[in-house]
Amino acid sequence: MRILVIGGAGYVGSHTVRQLLRTGHDVFVYDNLSKGHRQSVKDAELIEGELADRQKLIRIFREREIEAVMHFAAFALVGESVAQPAIYYQNNVSATLELLEAMRAAQVWRIVFSSTTATYGQPERIPIAETTPQMPINPYGFTKLVIEHALSDYAQAYGFGCAALRYFNAAGASPDGDIGEDHDPESHLIPIVLQTALGQRERIGIFGNDYPTPDGTCIRDYIHVDDLADAHLKALDQLRPSSNLQLNLGTGQGQSVLSVIEACRKVTGHPIPTTVEARRPGDPAELVADSSLAKKVLGWEPQYPDIESIVETAWRWHSAHPRGYASQAAAAR
Ligand code: UFG
Repeated sequence: MRILVIGGAGYVGSHTVRQLLRTGHDVFVYDNLSKGHRQSVKDAELIEGELADRQKLIRIFREREIEAVMHFAAFALVGESVAQPAIYYQNNVSATLELLEAMRAAQVWRIVFSSTTATYGQPERIPIAETTPQMPINPYGFTKLVIEHALSDYAQAYGFGCAALRYFNAAGASPDGDIGEDHDPESHLIPIVLQTALGQRERIGIFGNDYPTPDGTCIRDYIHVDDLADAHLKALDQLRPSSNLQLNLGTGQGQSVLSVIEACRKVTGHPIPTTVEARRPGDPAELVADSSLAKKVLGWEPQYPDIESIVETAWRWHSAHPRGYASQAAAAR
């Protein structure tokens, strides 16, 4: 299929592009490179452009004869969304609506959309199933939920075939160490712990150890980025006119912050000093997925069910690229 991957130079997008290419799809990456990395796009055409540029998207859809869209381009930091809601509503909602209108104009009706656990807010029951009420507690979660609703309305009224994939905590890197996670600034747990192992940080700050969890630290469900990519390919195969899938993607295994740090110590052989800091505002104590619907509907099964195997792939990437993609650029000079 001929697929436009919007945000294909970002973390989850670039891993999905690779799998699409490997399975014989024709892939075009559309990215404004505000967060993405040119070096992460290999063997696919990279078109630089803005998500909000409806006319440009219509042109690309027509000229490249695009049949499906995967949409990864979003701002995705909870804290930032609280401090700067305007850019979240502009990019994640307003610009995405331009994309949907471009699709309608060019009669592209298939879309796989990156959604998030953040649409659930602070759920009362764990694990979280798709039937769990969606009550976001921050602008990021709201923006993703708005688009989930828009997609179901577009499916019903205009015949779009949609899949909204609700990621839990994306982690890990391509097992060959070629592409991986590189955010600036970095705020995610596993990269920060591994930067500590590399000596780039003195210690890792644990955001709160007084949560109502067995060791007092927050529990999350870390899912390998290649497992997320695989789910996108499988969801694409399921899209039919007027269909609307909404699926959780996680391993179902909760890991506390302390257990993630322990796994990183084991994998890296580094002592990784820690310090306990205040809770980070907006962090729910526990988020773990019930992904049985995705398994049933997509025939999907995570290939990295345990945290150590996920951390191993992340470590391969971070130790080979201590400065992320900037390491590759320096080596090429
Ligand atoms: N943490 C620390 N120290 C750090 C960084 C993180 O203790 O230096 C803790 C956090 O408090 C949290 C856990 O590690 O308990 C994971 O934090 P991340 O920042 O790696 O990930 P989040 O769970 O906050 O965020 C992820 C996605 C978001 C999504 C959110 C939904 O990155 O896009 O889950 O809750 F919105």
